[in-house]
Amino acid sequence: METVVSGIRSTGKLHLGNYYGAVQNFVRMQHDYNCFFFIADYHSLTTHPTPEDLHGNVKQVLVEYLAAGLDPEKATLYIQSEVPEVAELYLYLNMNAYLGELERSTSFKDKVRSQPDNVNAGLLTYPVLMAADILIHKATKVPVGKDQEQHLEMARTFGNRFNRMYQNDYFPEPYAFSFSANLVKIPGLDGKGKMGKSEGEANAVYLSDDVETIRKKVMRAVTDSGPTQENQAKPEVIQNLFDLMKVVSTEDTYQHFDQLYNTCQIRYGDFKKQLAEDIILATSPIRERIEAIANDKTYLQKVSRLGTEKARESASKTIKEVREIIGFRSF
Ligand code: TRP
Repeated sequence: METVVSGIRSTGKLHLGNYYGAVQNFVRMQHDYNCFFFIADYHSLTTHPTPEDLHGNVKQVLVEYLAAGLDPEKATLYIQSEVPEVAELYLYLNMNAYLGELERSTSFKDKVRSQPDNVNAGLLTYPVLMAADILIHKATKVPVGKDQEQHLEMARTFGNRFNRMYQNDYFPEPYAFSFSANLVKIPGLDGKGKMGKSEGEANAVYLSDDVETIRKKVMRAVTDSGPTQENQAKPEVIQNLFDLMKVVSTEDTYQHFDQLYNTCQIRYGDFKKQLAEDIILATSPIRERIEAIANDKTYLQKVSRLGTEKARESASKTIKEVREIIGFRSF
């Protein structure tokens, strides 16, 4: 069975777009692959979170992924910093990662531009840590979006460089695992493309939002002044809301409002009210699970111990072999 690794940013609370997109695909993959999913909390140190924020963010992400259906018995779900073997492999890979190639990474250049006062070495070597995340389990498949393609290419470079240096084929090449065909696109509420794409809380409905917040956000979603001709094409802001409705409402409801639009009788207030209630309905089981899991300390402890144990078993095997290859041998 092929091995899959993916890192989850520890700062992102899940919105509907994540849920119906990447997360659902993770949930499907855990049945078909040897999956390692981890919360990338080492990576988050590049932005210097307070200890309280760091811990709170990790907990929230763990809770939400469990609530969304990741099964810690099927996949290995762990917290990166609980597996120090990752940091050790990162150290080794850093010895053969060159300043020039690291500086050329698009994400690094973006950070230099956006936070010129905090261009730390962790930011520069972010792709090396990501390579360590993947190579530590000798993964071949990495379910990430287009924005991570360059990092993945660097992971292949670092793995191949290690292989060449020690004249073996120890690390397999990891490739992006694309499920774009399966990807449900969830538009944002501000009429500006995908949910979560633009900054600002109002654009996205989060799984952890309470029902009043969801109602408020949806009622404030951007619309226009309404259709003036029968069967006219919908402008993007309206089409987006219909696309959302397609995902969360019944076919009958969707057809009902589509019909009203096409006959110029739609009232956006009613339309959005319905949309809000259907989003609430569709997400209430998961909202309840988030609540329950967040308050179940024993369960969270059990999950994180199990994940650490399984991840370290795989990681320590790799590190043992890598140390032997490098020449760190015991007398
Ligand atoms: N860089 C990824 C992101 O920003 C997160 C990540 C860290 C990751 N390590 C990884 C993804 C390893 C896949 C594999 O989303």
